[in-house]
Amino acid sequence: MRQSLLEKYKEHLPVTGGTPMFSMGEGATPLVKSRKIAELVGCDELYFKLEGCNPTGSFKDRGMVVAVAKAIEAGGTSLACASTGNTSASAAAYGAYCGLPTTVIVPKGNVSRGKLAQAIAYGARIMLIQGSFDLALQMVRELTERNPIVLVNSVNPNRIQGQKTASFEVVEDLGTAPDYLFIPVGNAGNITAYWLGFKEAYHNEWTSILPMMMGFQAEGAAPIVRGDVVAEPETIASAIRIGNPASWSSAIEARDESGGSIGMVSDDEIMDAYKLMANGEGLFCEPASAAGVAGLLKRSETGLSLEGKRVVCVITGSGLKDPDLANEVEPVWMEEYPPDVSVVEEALKLS
Ligand code: F0G
Repeated sequence: MRQSLLEKYKEHLPVTGGTPMFSMGEGATPLVKSRKIAELVGCDELYFKLEGCNPTGSFKDRGMVVAVAKAIEAGGTSLACASTGNTSASAAAYGAYCGLPTTVIVPKGNVSRGKLAQAIAYGARIMLIQGSFDLALQMVRELTERNPIVLVNSVNPNRIQGQKTASFEVVEDLGTAPDYLFIPVGNAGNITAYWLGFKEAYHNEWTSILPMMMGFQAEGAAPIVRGDVVAEPETIASAIRIGNPASWSSAIEARDESGGSIGMVSDDEIMDAYKLMANGEGLFCEPASAAGVAGLLKRSETGLSLEGKRVVCVITGSGLKDPDLANEVEPVWMEEYPPDVSVVEEALKLS
């Protein structure tokens, strides 16, 4: 059996003799070489880190396995989180695996159907609130301060610890850190975790360079870019519809220490990148993941030269998470035919 994330990286994680070592198959996700987009942006070495290949279809599982293991080690008996969808799916799954009741507080009407279906199937207690993710996070912070419930949002440092392993894998696969890392930014835990991971990889001498961190928010939910809280964040990429990121300051640190930038992309740019990823690369990601790709395309169009550079784009979640949006994409060719092969043959010859 493949070595688990907790086992493989135990020396670099807060794992002790008392930490339960379990795995649902998180981590060890593929790094796939781009063809189409690499050509478009003039970069020979562009790779996608496919975090949708984690057990619940997003990067959250890397952090969740550590957070839940540490919760159990500390005698915790139940979990809670706020979420735009993926954290709740992951918490609910690990809660179910470990037999811990899980409560998720989510913004009503703003969690995509695939993610909600997961939380339902895993048997979480789902509380829908009339309000944003930011409000839900505030509520769950209060809830877990006042009650013996473990908070498993990325404000829990064990989540960041687990998520940093994605950087370790990138360095392991490439034999070095990339020159640039493109990544979507919502609550800003993941950009924080990647930067921590790259810095540790550098200190451990697994890489002699550090990447520039290139974060991207959606235009309607870009508090870090605008330098101010967004009271009513709005974007088609519901996973990053966040107006007051919990890890705001560490995202700025990652940006500044790495010499990178945090920019924003419009919903149209996100949708263009989302479609291009699927029909150009064969990689079906969720819209929030496409925000990083949209950022890459935008930066390249506005003069960033990627020639001779090694670039990694983090594809944070699977396209199947948001079936409603997926079904809005115009099919290339979808028509009804009679159950008759010769008619089908005839039609295909016309193509
Ligand atoms: N991509 C996806 C698919 C996400 O689900 C998230 C965050 C992000 C990117 C942004 O990562 O918050 O660490 O900056 N989803 C959280 C959730 C907020 O509740 O599932 P971040």
